[in-house]
Amino acid sequence: MASNLPLLQADNVKRVFGRGDNSVTAVKNINLTIKKGSMIALKGRSGSGKTTLLNLLAALDQPTEGDVYFNGQVISRLPEKQRSTWRRTNLGLVFQAFGLIPLMSAYENVEFGLRIAGSDSKLHKERAEQALEWVGMKSRMKHRPPELSGGEQQRVAIARAIAHRPVLLLADEPTAELDSRMGLQVIKVFRDLVENLGMTVVMTTHDPGIMEIVDHVIALEDGEIVSEPNA
Ligand SMILES: Nc1ncnc2c1ncn2[C@@H]1O[C@H](COP(=O)(O)OP(=O)(O)O)[C@@H](O)[C@H]1O
Ligand SMILES: [Mg+2]
Repeated sequence: MASNLPLLQADNVKRVFGRGDNSVTAVKNINLTIKKGSMIALKGRSGSGKTTLLNLLAALDQPTEGDVYFNGQVISRLPEKQRSTWRRTNLGLVFQAFGLIPLMSAYENVEFGLRIAGSDSKLHKERAEQALEWVGMKSRMKHRPPELSGGEQQRVAIARAIAHRPVLLLADEPTAELDSRMGLQVIKVFRDLVENLGMTVVMTTHDPGIMEIVDHVIALEDGEIVSEPNA
């Protein structure tokens, strides 16, 4: 049964950028096992490989060596077309450049995300409004991104990532633009989705308050895991 398998697994993953003298080993010897329904924080200094690892787990990038598995199936070696289908179906993604469409309102951005995810169109309005409410942005949902602050745009991007209730949410410093109170509120929304829907969350963060809320903290140093890898 699929439930015995880890949701996400990395097996000896390494990512080298460039070649020869100019090559940079961004991550190496990455072995991790993430159970469904857990909430994981990735921490580490700037340049320690957090974003690289998240991109590999999202199958946005492919390892130089090693493999990434989702529900026991290798995803890292799939051709881009299949990886993209996999991402649309299973993932919520929050990356630092928010990727909102400037000419669409906050609501339309979230609703557009639901369409891309292929979720049932009858549920779009309810789910989009619900997600915006979760992040405290429902009252601003008619506003377009240029009319919103950086933190507000980040919250809309988070609403878009969770509106289709993905199995796996991967978020790169999702609270970077938020003050600590708002940051914790967003993390509590993630926690509720983990408890109520069995969502799994992997996010990078620097915030000590957030590390206390998650189930496990994975620390990276110079591209390697220096903490307990099994979560
Ligand atoms: N596309 C790239 N080309 C070359 N080097 C890269 C690339 N992406 C990341 N790196 C390098 O890999 C290392 C890890 O970067 P990154 O994963 O962004 O770290 P973090 O997110 O922890 O700040 C850094 O030394 C960075 O310069
Ligand atoms: Mg980063």
